[in-house]
Amino acid sequence: MKYTPNWLALREDADARARDRRLIEQLGAALSERTEPLIVDLGCGTGALRRALTNVAPASARWRMVDHDPDVLAVARERFPEADVLDLDLAEEIERAVADADCVAATAFYDLVSLDWLDRFVRLLPQDAIVYAALTYDGREHWRPRHRDDADVLEAFHKYQRRDIGFGPALGPDAAAKLTQLLSERGWNVSTADAWWRLDPDSEPELVNELADGIAMGSEASGVKAGAWRPFLRHSIEIGHLDILALPSDENVQATPDSA
Ligand SMILES: C[S@@+](CC[C@H](N)C(=O)[O-])C[C@H]1O[C@@H](n2cnc3c(N)ncnc32)[C@H](O)[C@@H]1O
Repeated sequence: MKYTPNWLALREDADARARDRRLIEQLGAALSERTEPLIVDLGCGTGALRRALTNVAPASARWRMVDHDPDVLAVARERFPEADVLDLDLAEEIERAVADADCVAATAFYDLVSLDWLDRFVRLLPQDAIVYAALTYDGREHWRPRHRDDADVLEAFHKYQRRDIGFGPALGPDAAAKLTQLLSERGWNVSTADAWWRLDPDSEPELVNELADGIAMGSEASGVKAGAWRPFLRHSIEIGHLDILALPSDENVQATPDSA
């Protein structure tokens, strides 16, 4: 699965508008209590998260940016020459990616992973790490006006999302709820907030076209025709995501990595 720099640039504004401000402020406050905090961005793409946290992360923060796609990594390295930009396959190398992190962050990443991967990931997290998981797709979509095929196309798209792209069968729209559950069970204090993409096709035609193309392609790959759905004109689109901020509890910090 390829996420081009162009697609990531298209979605960056919608992501920036959608990010929950209250959780970002809480993240900033938690980071400010740490000395030279190491922030790890999983599936960093070209560095959208780093840009989003420019006025939030302390100036002393150190960044480790991780991805496996050479095209996005080249852009990230050019834009952030002082960062530790790592070419890692996160399906295999969780430990190296999260080692010593004060904050393990990601945007639009966890829907790609399986339940087994997520469970292993949470067990391998440094016990005192802050976890910030932004813009995890949660399966809710409102396309207006409605089309008779909306429900069938969405169901088929979700089936397509659940395929294995290297992490095992992907969680797709279930990822946000599962991550919330696993972090809570392992002792983190978890807060969540809606982070809706609210799109106006007239002002963001390229993003909306790419989005509709991707959903139609996924639907057809799952055997549901989208030929009537795809060209149907809409005046507004809402795509649901969850933002998650998990802060380590005192109990969590005292636990050993292999306990529980
Ligand atoms: C939806 S994009 C989000 C990118 C970025 N976080 C952003 O918000 O612009 C998902 C990212 O995960 C990366 N990714 C997917 N599978 C990966 C893997 N096995 N190892 C490392 N990165 C991976 C992709 O290359 C892509 O950059």
